[in-house]
Amino acid sequence: MQPVDERAIRAAVDVLECSGLVAMPTETVYGLAANAEDEKAVMKIFEAKHRPTTHPLIVHITGEEALDHWAREIPQSAYVLARRFWPGPLTMILKKSDSVGDWITGGQDSVGLRCPSHPWAVALIKSFAGKHHRGLAAPSANTFGRISPTTAQHVRDDLGEKPKGKVDFILDGGECEVGVESTIINLSGEHPEILRHGAITRNMLEEALGCAVPDGGKDSPRVSGSLKSHYAPKTKVILCDDLVSELKKYGDKKIAVMASARSLAQTPDHVIKWFVAPDNATAYMHDLYVRLHELDQAGADLILIETPPTGDAWNAVQDRLSRAAA
Ligand code: TXA
Ligand code: MG
Repeated sequence: MQPVDERAIRAAVDVLECSGLVAMPTETVYGLAANAEDEKAVMKIFEAKHRPTTHPLIVHITGEEALDHWAREIPQSAYVLARRFWPGPLTMILKKSDSVGDWITGGQDSVGLRCPSHPWAVALIKSFAGKHHRGLAAPSANTFGRISPTTAQHVRDDLGEKPKGKVDFILDGGECEVGVESTIINLSGEHPEILRHGAITRNMLEEALGCAVPDGGKDSPRVSGSLKSHYAPKTKVILCDDLVSELKKYGDKKIAVMASARSLAQTPDHVIKWFVAPDNATAYMHDLYVRLHELDQAGADLILIETPPTGDAWNAVQDRLSRAAA
């Protein structure tokens, strides 16, 4: 991990103070950050990403002490989870306070709050927040519907830096450690529910809360990651259980593959690029978007991905892959 560049952090804070956009490394993915209380700045995020303004944004805060500023009627469960998993890859949906503008929530009565652990994000949010619990609105720093960025280069390749690109300042804090977006838990309703799977798994949440945490149903608040075609490479992706027979089906096409070492033992000539899929979920999550970016750039007609294992730790991987293939 690159040590925090304090001068770059100060420059980024200046950009934020002037209603600008900063690409910020977090432990999950790179975020496109703006002052959450500055409507003009936040509108630039939606413009840069081509994201509909009805899709709510997560506010990144310094920690538990800022909860009161951003949320109201905070349940005990929120403090339990903040103490257990913050700083870290968990976003909590809570009833919003008056500090939260409609430009953040898409008009909903709730707000997503997260305290990231990446040292660069921590440094940026702390210096920006000052004593006033200010926060940074930050969706993933990619064009709406595309693969999320896990390196600064991904951000340069997609949104780009000014004057040619759309971001005022890209902070390069190296590769993201987790690799997929934060787990989202909704605590604004009667019972907690998972809106998006991530590195904090259902078992971890249930163990911390001492109750069941099912997936959110249709009545849950909106999550843009819940659109079927989210996180999609430009190249068509097919998930398959039997790689060998799938490869035979597409003998006339150029194929890029991610599969287990065993399935890749004999790769026919029309496989132009391949990666060995990690056999544990943490490593798979870490590699997933980097590999999808690389497979997408291989010039293949088709990307074949062998279905990964199932189970609590694999939910986030399963979820992102099925969307990439939708
Ligand atoms: O790991 C992450 O969460 C990254 C990093 C940058 O922190 N951020 C991220 O943001 O993934 P984004 O905008 O790509 O995804 C945030 C998700 C969206 O699907 C949004 O709909 C949902 O959070 N969300 C935000 N506020 C919400 C709310 N009040 N109710 C329901 N869903 C909400
Ligand atoms: Mg996103």
